[in-house]
Amino acid sequence: MIPLTLARIAEITGGRLLGDPAAVVTGEVVIDSRRAGPGGLFAAVAGERADGHHFASAAVAAGAVAVLATRPVPVPSVLVADVPAALAALAAFVADSLPAVAIAGITGSSGKTTTKDLAAQLIERLGPTIAPAGSFNNEFGHPLTVLRADSSTRYLVLELSARGPGHIAYLCDIAPPRYGAVLNVGRAHAGEFGGLDQVAQAKGELVEALPAGGAAILNADDPRVLAMAARSAARVVTFGVRDRAASVRAADVRLDDLGRPSFTLLTPEGPAPVTLRLHGAHIVPNALAAAALAGELGLGLADIADGLSAAVARSRWRMEVRRREDGVTVINDAYNANPESVQAALQALSHLARDGRAFAILGHMAELGATSRASHEEVGEFAARPEIGRCLAGLIAVGEEAAPILAGARRVRSWTGEALAVPDGAVALDALANQLKPGDVVLVKASRAAHLEGVAELLLAEEADR
Ligand SMILES: Nc1ncnc2c1ncn2[C@@H]1O[C@H](COP(=O)(O)OP(=O)(O)O)[C@@H](O)[C@H]1O
Ligand SMILES: [Mg+2]
Repeated sequence: MIPLTLARIAEITGGRLLGDPAAVVTGEVVIDSRRAGPGGLFAAVAGERADGHHFASAAVAAGAVAVLATRPVPVPSVLVADVPAALAALAAFVADSLPAVAIAGITGSSGKTTTKDLAAQLIERLGPTIAPAGSFNNEFGHPLTVLRADSSTRYLVLELSARGPGHIAYLCDIAPPRYGAVLNVGRAHAGEFGGLDQVAQAKGELVEALPAGGAAILNADDPRVLAMAARSAARVVTFGVRDRAASVRAADVRLDDLGRPSFTLLTPEGPAPVTLRLHGAHIVPNALAAAALAGELGLGLADIADGLSAAVARSRWRMEVRRREDGVTVINDAYNANPESVQAALQALSHLARDGRAFAILGHMAELGATSRASHEEVGEFAARPEIGRCLAGLIAVGEEAAPILAGARRVRSWTGEALAVPDGAVALDALANQLKPGDVVLVKASRAAHLEGVAELLLAEEADR
C-alpha cells in the first residue's frame, strides 16, 4: 500500500482515531488477523463464525500498526461506522493517487478467477502487476486488492463479482477500470437475481463504467454479453470460439489426453499457436479474453501466445487434474459449481475417460433459487445423455439437495451406469474407492459449502497408502 498516516486514514474513512496520528501504515491491509504483518492495518470484520474485533490485539502483536474497527478495541485503532465502506474509501483514495496504474476488471458467471490468473500471467510481462490468487472479488476482497497497489504498480487486474444489481457498479466506483472483460452470463447466483436477463444487467455494469478511451472485451459467443456493446462508451473488442467475426479467436481447438487445449490464436496481429496447461475446452474462451485484454494493454502477439502456453493454475481446486500412480485420474473441480461449470467439467471428464470408465461425485449447486431443483435434474440428464453417459459408470450425488441430479439422470433410458445418493463425502469415498481401476477418471465437483475438495484429495491419497 502507499504509506498513509493514521491521521490520514481517519480523515479518508471519516473515522475517529484512537492512537498516534503520526504512525504510518506501510504494509498490507488484511481482514484475516493471521495474515497481519509488520506495518500493516487490520480491518476487524464481524463475520458469521468469528468477530475480528476479538483478534485486534493479536493482529497488533503480529506487527499491525492499528485496527480498523466498529467498536473500541484495546489497541491503536480507527473507529468507523462500517468497515467495508471504510475499505472502499481507502481503496478509492489509493486508486485515485495512482493515475499511472492501468486498471482492468473481469466479470462473468463462470471463469473469472481462471481468466484473472491467465491475464495476470500475461500482463506481468508488461510491468509490475497486482492480481492476487483466488477470488478477491467482493466488497472485501476487491478493495483489499486495490489497497495492495503502490507507486511501483503499473497494472491492477481485478475480479468483480455480483450477487445483485449495483454490486459491480459499486466496485467500479472504488477503482474505475479502463479495460473490462465480460466472460459469460450464466446461472451462478441466478436465484438472487431473478433470471439471466437480470444477471446480464448486473454484469454489464462493468462495461457501463468504462471510459471512452478504454476497451470493453466481450464474448461474441454469448448473445447477452455481446449485447452489452450498446452499453459502453469504450471501444468494443470481441472474442469467441464459435463466432467467426470475433476479433480474437481460436481455430483448430484440440485437447490432449488430459484435456489440455491447443489451438491457433487468431488476432488482428496474426495467428499464433497456443498450448494451455489448464484443463478443459471451456478454458479456451477464458484464454481468449485474457489474450484480448493483454493485447489492449500493449502486449505483443508472441508474448501473448508464449504467456498463455506458460501459464499455470494459480488458484486451487479449479479443474485440478492429477493421475495416481495406479493410473486413476482425479479431477478436483470442487471450488464451486453452477449448471454451466458442471456441464463443462462433465465434458472434460468424458474427454479424459475416452473409452474407459468415468465417475462423477457431484454435490449441490448453491444459490440457484426457484430453478434449483430443475437445474440439478438438468445436470443429471446432461451427464447421462450418450455424449457423457457412454462412459459414465457411476454418478454419486452428495447430500439431499444434490439428489435431483440422479432423478435427471434416470430420465435417460439409454444410460446404464450406477446412480447413488450418499449423505456426505466420506460415504461417497467409501462407495467408490474399492472399485476404481487403472484408467478410471473421477470428477469431484460441488459448490463451496459442500467442501468436496477433501474427497478429491483423499482419493488421490488412497492409492499412496497401498
Ligand atoms: N468459461 C467457462 N464456462 C463454464 N465453466 C467455466 C468457465 N471457466 C471456468 N469454468 C469453471 O467454473 C468454475 C469456477 O471457475 P473460476 O475460474 O473460479 O470462476 P469464478 O471466479 O467465476 O467463480 C470451475 O469449475 C471452472 O472449471
Ligand atoms: Mg472467482
